[in-house]
Amino acid sequence: MRVSIRPFAPLAPIARLASVAPLGAALALAALGTTLATRAEAADPRSSRFCSSCHSDIAKQWGASSMAHSWSNPVFQSFLADAKAALGPSIQANCISCHAPLASVTGDANVEGDINKEGVTCNFCHNVTAVDVSPKAASYTWDPSDPNKMQGPFNDSDAGVTHSSTFNPLFSQGEFCASCHWYGDDKGTLTFEGTHPSWKGSKAAAAGTQCQDCHMPPGPGKTAITAKVSRDKMWPHHFLGAHTPGVLDSTATLAAVVEGGKLKLTVTNRRGGHSLPGGGASMRAITLEVAYTNAAGAELSRALVQTYDTEFADASGKSPVPKWLAKSVARSNEIPADAAKVEWAAIPAGAKSAEAILTYHFLLPAYRDALVAKKVDLTGHDPVVMARAKVALP
Ligand code: HEC
Ligand code: HEC
Ligand code: HEC
Ligand code: HEC
Ligand code: HEC
Repeated sequence: MRVSIRPFAPLAPIARLASVAPLGAALALAALGTTLATRAEAADPRSSRFCSSCHSDIAKQWGASSMAHSWSNPVFQSFLADAKAALGPSIQANCISCHAPLASVTGDANVEGDINKEGVTCNFCHNVTAVDVSPKAASYTWDPSDPNKMQGPFNDSDAGVTHSSTFNPLFSQGEFCASCHWYGDDKGTLTFEGTHPSWKGSKAAAAGTQCQDCHMPPGPGKTAITAKVSRDKMWPHHFLGAHTPGVLDSTATLAAVVEGGKLKLTVTNRRGGHSLPGGGASMRAITLEVAYTNAAGAELSRALVQTYDTEFADASGKSPVPKWLAKSVARSNEIPADAAKVEWAAIPAGAKSAEAILTYHFLLPAYRDALVAKKVDLTGHDPVVMARAKVALP
């Protein structure tokens, strides 16, 4: 894995703007009624709290998503500490390019700025002008010249004096997300986050369904409290995902039948936007288990039938290891978009019924115990049951 990332646009233009109109001077001028105040605001990216004064719904939705916690998330922080212990502190530059991208583009390597701690935040995404769609990490271009000029999906929006805006069609395309949701090693042999290429090969992508259509499903509404118009189509910022209650309930189906004296289990990727699990190779997994009961209804035994995931091995062959230690793929068995997996399980003597259980794991069990021992807050990382199927046995 790369320790250094591509050189980002230098800070100079921001610093220059700031020195033209420092905030104090600008406030004094604002009192005199000049327009320089808004120029001074343009000097620095703003906190989501600032945006929230007008875009309150959007800010609330984003605030509950995992992208708003991609830096503060205790599970991320614990793994970051491990990565630094294993590879040296300079590895952080790689991690923050996606997990605290505003820190990365403004040269705050230690992530000290409060706004930079907001993770994948408003004033980062809305100043991305282009994406080099490739497995390069953090393949976005962030424009430092005027953080107060918002890139967005509309060609007719007017925010008044607060900020200017530019129509950028990239915002309505899945390619926008590829800058962080597709990356691999330098040699092009390992894919650490493969959500974008996996979506590209799906029927959903062929039908024109973008990441945004599923993760920010559009509807009518007002995009700001101060907006002059109501729009037919705007995109809520929930960034629905496996962490969102209810989403996993309808993502896959599970069917169980007895055939030729064995249990036949069929798992279908019903949502079909990309393979399951949707990302996080060597971190997330989906397990298929069967619990057998006897005639009295008591549990006889349990069997792990299959695990759907990708797991990496390090240079010594140890597996699973997280993405930053990966040197090879130890196993890869995801459920592709639009596809079903069929598994077979033996029926133990005395079993009268079986229940198959499909469970989503945010963390491979191999990591969980270590995190529990370190007392890391695992809120939001408990396994979630995705589907169950019961069948009576002959
Ligand atoms: C004083 C109120 C106000 C504040 C504060 C504000 N905005 Fe806006 N913003 C608006 C209004 C009004 C519009 C136009 C809405 C429309 O046309 O539907 C807008 C439009 C936008 C658009 C759409 C641009 C386009 O062309 O597609 C984006 C993106 C945006 N704002 C992002 C932000 C971000 C990020 C922040 C914080 C850094 C922010 N805004 C702060 C009022 C505000
Ligand atoms: C991960 C990147 C990302 C982050 C973080 C983000 N946005 Fe957006 N935003 C988008 C995309 C993409 C669209 C357009 C979706 C489309 O056109 O399909 C959008 C659209 C908008 C719009 C136009 C109206 C609408 O809802 O479609 C506004 C306003 C806006 N964002 C404000 C904000 C504010 C305020 C924040 C922070 C609270 C924020 N955004 C955080 C990516 C982001
Ligand atoms: C600057 C990098 C970056 C960009 C751009 C980005 N993401 Fe993310 N995204 C992340 C990171 C990092 C996480 C993981 C956060 C964590 O779990 O701590 C994440 C997590 C997610 C999740 C998981 C949500 C959950 O709660 O389970 C979804 C869904 C998601 N992103 C969708 C998108 C979509 C859709 C886009 C494009 C509109 C996008 N992302 C653009 C970095 C990014
Ligand atoms: C047809 C709808 C659909 C499309 C299109 C789609 N997704 Fe998803 N995505 C889902 C569903 C459903 C889940 C929940 C299941 C899961 O976590 O694997 C999900 C999960 C995710 C996750 C979360 C995994 C986690 O760990 O929480 C991320 C990240 C994600 N998608 C990103 C993307 C990106 C980026 C794109 C476009 C390149 C995209 N998705 C396209 C439906 C879709
Ligand atoms: C190119 C972008 C990118 C880089 C670089 C990157 N990540 Fe991630 N990371 C992601 C995305 C996207 C996800 C979300 C995957 C999903 O939910 O499907 C993620 C998820 C994670 C998670 C899971 C968080 C949770 O709460 O479940 C951890 C831990 C993590 N990354 C650690 C790191 C560390 C440590 C580094 C640096 C060595 C790093 N990442 C570098 C994009 C990146």
